[in-house]
Amino acid sequence: MILLDGKLLSAQIKQEIAADVAQIKAEGGKIPHLVAILVGTAGRSETYVASKMKSCEEVGMHSTLIRFDDDVTEAELLAAVTDVNNNPDMDGLIVQLPLPKHINPDKVMETILPAKDVDGFHPINIGRMAKGLPAYVSATPQGILEMLKRYDISTSGKHCVVVGRSQIVGLPMSILMQRNDYPGNCTVTLTHSKTQNLAEICRSADILIAALGRPEFITADMVKEGAVVIDVGLERVPDATKKSGFALKGDVKFDEVAPKTSYITPVPGGVGLMTICSLMQNTLKAARREVY
Ligand code: GUN
Repeated sequence: MILLDGKLLSAQIKQEIAADVAQIKAEGGKIPHLVAILVGTAGRSETYVASKMKSCEEVGMHSTLIRFDDDVTEAELLAAVTDVNNNPDMDGLIVQLPLPKHINPDKVMETILPAKDVDGFHPINIGRMAKGLPAYVSATPQGILEMLKRYDISTSGKHCVVVGRSQIVGLPMSILMQRNDYPGNCTVTLTHSKTQNLAEICRSADILIAALGRPEFITADMVKEGAVVIDVGLERVPDATKKSGFALKGDVKFDEVAPKTSYITPVPGGVGLMTICSLMQNTLKAARREVY
């Protein structure tokens, strides 16, 4: 079993991005600038956004955090998005999800200029990605592709089972794994909460991507001997033995699944770190106008 080391890969990728940014600076070019909009303080969004901003700093990019209280109106939020769209100094924009219930996330995503949509959530980017046209690809699926590539894992003709159909991970992942390119060319099964015989389908996977958000849901009996297992989950579960009172768990029961696999991602230290790298890569592309 080989551990897919997100810590190692993300450190390498950050170095590559930092070198590109340094070169841009040396040539007097435009320093990439990422803007994040964060609404409220609930959940883990604040931590995620803070680590995105910190990563920008580490690679030499500019970053701006725009914060709103939970009671911001949809019109105010859309106006902030439009301001960023119209600001030529700002290259990429993300609006951290989830948003409060009174705000329609689809409306917000559709207001972001596709050329600045470095999260790849705008329907134009999703459509272009599905057609195989140049597009911003959502960060977690892109990070997983990068991992498969850098470990030279063969995917052509393999059965890839994706568990979870979220707009952010499961759905784009399933589209990317079937495309006629590397890493791709898989036969893909996209499974979800209504799927029947889920364990049996998972057992037939050469590549199993768990992105359902249920701690340790994937057990050893659901995994084929020699499979590649990618764990997108990251949940806090109570653990009295830890000083913090909780442990971080993925969607895969790592200890019993790992020995059966050929490759597996750890949690933490796997896919999560790759996600931030993808966002940095997309921001660099946005500053260079590589996609649009
Ligand atoms: N919430 C959870 N993951 C993400 C992400 O990748 N981007 C945004 N904008 N919100 C998220």
